[in-house]
Amino acid sequence: MELNGSHICCFSPTGTSRRVAEAVGRGMNVPQTLFHDATHGEVCFTAAADSVAIFAVPVYGGHAAPLALQRMEKIRGDGTPAVVIVVYGNRDHGSAARELSAFVAQRGFVTVGVGAFVGEHSYSTSRYPIAAGRPDERDCREAEAFGRAVAAKLASHGVRRIDAAALPGVRNGMLSTWRFLRFVLGYRRKQKHHPARVAVETSAERCTHCGHCVEVCPTEAVAAGDELHTDASRCIRCCACVKGCPAGARSYDSPFAPVLSHNFPQRKPNRTKV
Ligand SMILES: Cc1cc2nc3c(=O)[nH]c(=O)nc-3n(C[C@H](O)[C@H](O)[C@H](O)COP(=O)(O)O)c2cc1C
Ligand code: SF4
Ligand code: SF4
Repeated sequence: MELNGSHICCFSPTGTSRRVAEAVGRGMNVPQTLFHDATHGEVCFTAAADSVAIFAVPVYGGHAAPLALQRMEKIRGDGTPAVVIVVYGNRDHGSAARELSAFVAQRGFVTVGVGAFVGEHSYSTSRYPIAAGRPDERDCREAEAFGRAVAAKLASHGVRRIDAAALPGVRNGMLSTWRFLRFVLGYRRKQKHHPARVAVETSAERCTHCGHCVEVCPTEAVAAGDELHTDASRCIRCCACVKGCPAGARSYDSPFAPVLSHNFPQRKPNRTKV
């Protein structure tokens, strides 16, 4: 099959899903790439049968990020081959790849390659690093190789659907899994009896009112001119503003950061299936 165009479509508040998708695109080496960024609003496009689409979204709570899917509702394919990528923060990608694959299938795409890649966790900080710096050069090389493998298979076999459920899962040690689950259950119980909202904080001393947080926020939870305030009802805790603030004025002390950092320190491999 000859490919005459490609689409890269991602939702990527902190940029890791986007970096992986771009590396896969480089590996596929298809001319005329159109980029559709669902991070800041709805995307709407139709992909021709002789093109390929690369979709990449982060894993939130073991699922494909719900806002990503909402914003991609209007994508349409015509039996178009699709590469489905989920990017997760070194814990677990859960059912995200299956969900994204089913979602694009309902809209006319055929999954021909699926991958779960590791990206720096949104909650990673210098104190509690979680997959810090990923995707790194090695990850990008692997993503490019994955793209090449998908392109080669399309060229030799045409569009053949693969089952995203066959993507190997994550192997976490029993002890770390148990510690994490115990923490989550304890946290939920505490929240039920004494609900406390952990929110993104902004330091008035550090903030220079440059407005960058307003630009990067995918949900308009920060308003121009009112950068010290975050609308907690809109905030999805993606940490784009925290990581992007040039003055280091924004922070999100996620209660999950220490437990994730301590229990999932090993470098997890990327998994792909073509
Ligand atoms: C609300 C939320 C939930 C998350 N849940 C998971 C999870 O279940 N498993 C995991 O390994 N990483 C999880 N992460 C980490 C992200 O999947 C990871 O940091 C990803 O690289 C972010 O993608 P982006 O850079 O494209 O925004 C979560 C992050 C957030 C903000
Ligand atoms: S990005 Fe940081 S310094 Fe700039 S307005 Fe937002 S909080 Fe203030
Ligand atoms: S305010 Fe919330 S939703 Fe907006 S960028 Fe910051 S963490 Fe993400």
